[in-house]
Amino acid sequence: MEVSTMLCFLFSSILFIVLFRIFIKQFVSKRQHLPLPPGSMGYPYIGETFQLYSQDPNVFFASKIKRYGSMFKSHILGCPCVMISSPEAAKFVLNKAQLFKPTFPASKERMLGKQAIFFHQGEYHANLRRLVLRTFMPEAIKNIVPDIESIAEDSLKSMEGRLITTFLEMKTFTFNVALLSIFGKDEIHYRERLKQCYYTLEKGYNSMPINLPGTLFHKAMKARKELAQILAEIISSRREKKQDFKDLLGSFMDEKSGLSDEQIADNVIGVIFAARDTTASVLTWIVKYLGENINVLESVIEEQEYILRNKEENGEEKGLKWEDTKKMVITSRVIQETLRVASILSFTFREAVEDVEYQGYLIPKGWKVLPLFRNIHHSPNNFKDPEKFDPSRFETATKPNTFMPFGSGVHACPGNELAKLEILVLLHHLTTKYRWSVEGTKDGIQYGPFALPQNGLPITLYPKK
Ligand code: HEM
Repeated sequence: MEVSTMLCFLFSSILFIVLFRIFIKQFVSKRQHLPLPPGSMGYPYIGETFQLYSQDPNVFFASKIKRYGSMFKSHILGCPCVMISSPEAAKFVLNKAQLFKPTFPASKERMLGKQAIFFHQGEYHANLRRLVLRTFMPEAIKNIVPDIESIAEDSLKSMEGRLITTFLEMKTFTFNVALLSIFGKDEIHYRERLKQCYYTLEKGYNSMPINLPGTLFHKAMKARKELAQILAEIISSRREKKQDFKDLLGSFMDEKSGLSDEQIADNVIGVIFAARDTTASVLTWIVKYLGENINVLESVIEEQEYILRNKEENGEEKGLKWEDTKKMVITSRVIQETLRVASILSFTFREAVEDVEYQGYLIPKGWKVLPLFRNIHHSPNNFKDPEKFDPSRFETATKPNTFMPFGSGVHACPGNELAKLEILVLLHHLTTKYRWSVEGTKDGIQYGPFALPQNGLPITLYPKK
């Protein structure tokens, strides 16, 4: 090669590198020079954790929104974060899965299992979602209405004439429905053992992650191992039977699913976790709101009694069918309004996987982003007179993205149809056969982690006269 060609090559390479670096620098600095959202980061390390958790979280959020607007920065649980309360921003964050990934404390991942659906993105997540949706879509859950109904009737019968903690009783009901949808009716003899282990596991969910003998976390981790063992036994007994099962476990065990036994176990435990306390909290709030809004309760009773009468007059068989639940229009609006007012999941967590620009602000890579469902549901811009319990507001469509009790985007709740179905079935029997009175304090909310009436709503349940 001639010297002049070499020099020319060298010169153009240097020029390319210099220009490339200038371009990259400009691109990067453009984002880095964007301002962070307004807000305060509190004290070093602890940030504003204490302010958030020492009071009603809504007071914290409301005062921040008033001061800084719908998007503000803060620092909680050792992490810098951006909190958002506009419907558009929530939709942006929840639907841009390539920019924001789900994120949980490491201790929660260890307890539920690292392979559970919540913690994943991409192909593995899409495969799990397909399997879960296959079991929980209307076409599939239609067939289990009679089984859900008999669980509901038994549950209510066991509460009759007693002073009960509504939330605890509803947890038993939703746990049994979760087991039915996961294992069908077959694995009944494992139910007690599963229950015992799961109850020990859940006590550790909100404990400090200290894995020393005697601690709640340690006991929970032991129960987690035993749960995996029971699941392994169920899986191997099913393999011997060589039968085709239509429940969630059957779907997970399908050869085409490509899941290992460990992945199946993590996701079975994950689904129980997602299905139980959420639905039980909503049921507890419904019992409370119906008790406080007698006109609404009367409309629900009328609707449910009409369904019963109509079946009798048409000479139909006893027992609810999927089609009957589609006639429960008023009761369905009560569920929607309860999901809005109670907003049991006040917010969720995502993490920015790269620097993201949103409305002129920088959300830095690694920061947590919290869409604030409760604030969206309680904003007067989205719902008139937002603190009022008024199911009739759902007679007309809500504004886009203002009502997201089941989330939005690729991680939106795949169990929402089952949740609504089991609530409708239980309410049918509750309102046609029983009445109740609330005992003790009637006000106050506890968060643990789902919003719940004080003390889980103690009531006395008695048969309708
Ligand atoms: C009224 C009761 C329920 C409410 C309010 C609720 C709410 C939610 C919300 C808001 C999410 C999304 C969280 C996020 O984006 O970070 C979610 C996810 C999920 N829910 Fe539900 N849920 C309920 C009942 C159920 C039931 C009954 C099941 C199962 C049968 C279930 C299974 C799941 C699963 C597996 C996910 C994770 C989905 C994913 O990551 O792709 N949920 N739920």
